[in-house]
Amino acid sequence: MIGIGGKRSHDTLALVTGAGSGIGQAFAAELAGRGGSVVCSDIDETAAQRTVDAIVDQGGKAVAIRCDVSQAEEVRALADDARGWFGATPTMIVNNAGVGAGGRLVGETSLADWEWTLGINLWGVIHGCHVFAPILREAGRGSIINVASSASFGSLPRMAAYNVSKAGVLALSETLKGELAGTGVHVSVLCPTFVKTNILESGRISAESNSLAGTLMRLTGMSAARVARTTLDTHDRGGLYVMPQLDAKALWRLKRAAPGVFTRGTGVLERVSPVRRDSSKGTPS
Ligand SMILES: NC(=O)c1ccc[n+]([C@@H]2O[C@H](COP(=O)([O-])OP(=O)(O)OC[C@H]3O[C@@H](n4cnc5c(N)ncnc54)[C@H](O)[C@@H]3O)[C@@H](O)[C@H]2O)c1
Repeated sequence: MIGIGGKRSHDTLALVTGAGSGIGQAFAAELAGRGGSVVCSDIDETAAQRTVDAIVDQGGKAVAIRCDVSQAEEVRALADDARGWFGATPTMIVNNAGVGAGGRLVGETSLADWEWTLGINLWGVIHGCHVFAPILREAGRGSIINVASSASFGSLPRMAAYNVSKAGVLALSETLKGELAGTGVHVSVLCPTFVKTNILESGRISAESNSLAGTLMRLTGMSAARVARTTLDTHDRGGLYVMPQLDAKALWRLKRAAPGVFTRGTGVLERVSPVRRDSSKGTPS
């Protein structure tokens, strides 16, 4: 089923993970505004319910379902619950839930922080694709939107766990794009730079990096609503890669045109970075 005017993002039966805040909340609101029925899923059920209440206040259709995306069985149960609520197969899955991590060097970042970051940011998206790609393939139509980051190709220092998790999401999305070609199921991957959300509040980020990221987010961040709109519009046009901001587009082009220069540049950034002073606070385990 494709919605109004052939646009996939209209009139969807959509499921958004991490819909209690930020980009996920914005996707849920935008999809509901485009006539969709939206399952708003989050590990924080109260937050998901707030998103639902706002959508329903605007006359939209939504329901909150708690799910920790790092747990495969919870994602399977989410698919069953969503099908029950829709009374049909979902037509769009937005694998958005994620957390922030960074500020320490490889070897200083604790293995617990690596596992936490990859467990949510990468395994969460793997679980979503593992469960929903076969359902959509069998239905012969639908949409998968995965939320990665410009970190997936930017690979800045002191963000290894986050970078690796997002590079995995990018590779998974590219793989799915090929695997699902000709099936009626369309894939997009969102790779933003800063977006104004609550991600820094719950992340495992060293104090100085958090403060620097907060400043950059305030100065350069795009609104989550605009990011969601741009992503859905790009998805409707059949685009795989969504770089919503000019700096994301510039980084993407530079990395592809001159990867050696780009990587040397990140080394220069590390040497002049104010967060170097903070690295002694790491507690590896
Ligand atoms: N904000 C940015 O600058 C930015 C930039 C690039 C990519 N991203 C990505 O965007 C996505 C959304 O982040 P955001 O910025 O909106 O952050 P946010 O903190 O505002 O929202 C994230 C939501 O995910 C939920 N969540 C966390 N762990 C979960 C889990 N295990 N299972 C289910 N839900 C969980 C949180 O409760 C929260 O509601 C993330 O994947 C993030 O990596 C954000």
